[in-house]
Amino acid sequence: MKITVILGSPRPQGFGGRIEKSLLGLLGEAGRKAKTYELNPLTYRGCQACMSCKTSADVCVQKDDLTPILEDIRASDVVILSAPIYMGEVNAQAKGLLDRFYSYLGPDFRTNPQSGRLAPGKKMVFIMTQGNPDEPTYAAVLARHKRTFDMCGFTDVLPVQICGARPGSETEAGKKAATRLADVAKAIFDSRPE
Ligand SMILES: Cc1cc2nc3c(=O)[nH]c(=O)nc-3n(C[C@H](O)[C@H](O)[C@H](O)COP(=O)(O)O)c2cc1C
Repeated sequence: MKITVILGSPRPQGFGGRIEKSLLGLLGEAGRKAKTYELNPLTYRGCQACMSCKTSADVCVQKDDLTPILEDIRASDVVILSAPIYMGEVNAQAKGLLDRFYSYLGPDFRTNPQSGRLAPGKKMVFIMTQGNPDEPTYAAVLARHKRTFDMCGFTDVLPVQICGARPGSETEAGKKAATRLADVAKAIFDSRPE
């Protein structure tokens, strides 16, 4: 089982990083073999709207530090992406990557609900962390991104929303997330490729 982990927060030891590590721990050997990327130190641009991925190519033609990540996502069974909420949205580091997911949509994506280019069977674990303790406040952000992951062709999108991610509440947030992470790990194992 190939797992790619992407950390959107500039704080690798923060809530998102801790939750990702906990999930990898639950995934045992497969988790230990996972490849992890931190977005913050990388050099990349958002989508340039060149439309090459809708006309002459079926991949993103921009070559930068996101290129191997976009390729690894295509080759993975499970993608674990974490992003903190900044100013009401996923942070810029994560959004820059998400905009490049446009290359996972086929040219007819507006009319064809099956136009995602990702091979069937992939799981996306989307970990969203927020300082605000109120879950409904950003539930719409999660739902919106889930929709685009569905469109790209991820078969299962498994959201993990971590609320009240404030300094000093790391242990409490970890405890609260434990049941959800166990469910996510079970969902990954239950559909494990042979
Ligand atoms: C620039 C900035 C903007 C933020 N904006 C929000 C916000 O709009 N809503 C919110 O609930 N938390 C906000 N936060 C808190 C972060 O969501 C929280 O610190 C983050 O989820 C922690 O994740 P991490 O430890 O993985 O970095 C903001 C934090 C920063 C640094």
